[in-house]
Amino acid sequence: MIVCHCMVVNDTAITDAVDAGATTLAEVCRSTGAGTDCGGCVFSVKAIVCNHDVFRARTMDDLRALATDVSLDEEPIRAAS
Ligand code: FES
Repeated sequence: MIVCHCMVVNDTAITDAVDAGATTLAEVCRSTGAGTDCGGCVFSVKAIVCNHDVFRARTMDDLRALATDVSLDEEPIRAAS
């Protein structure tokens, strides 16, 4: 599914960026190009990253960390693994 129409980035590219080590929304956007033009897709990108991490979470502590780490700035958007 295309998430960023400006830069033609799909959801797989976004989850691949997370799996490759991107730990902030800014890193995901920089590495994929998503969100770097009009910015209209940034919240969709963020939702995909969060959902991807929820499925990867193994403990309640992982989920608690996700709930407190979601941010649009350079702060980590997921718990370090
Ligand atoms: S839709 Fe992603 S930057 Fe415009």
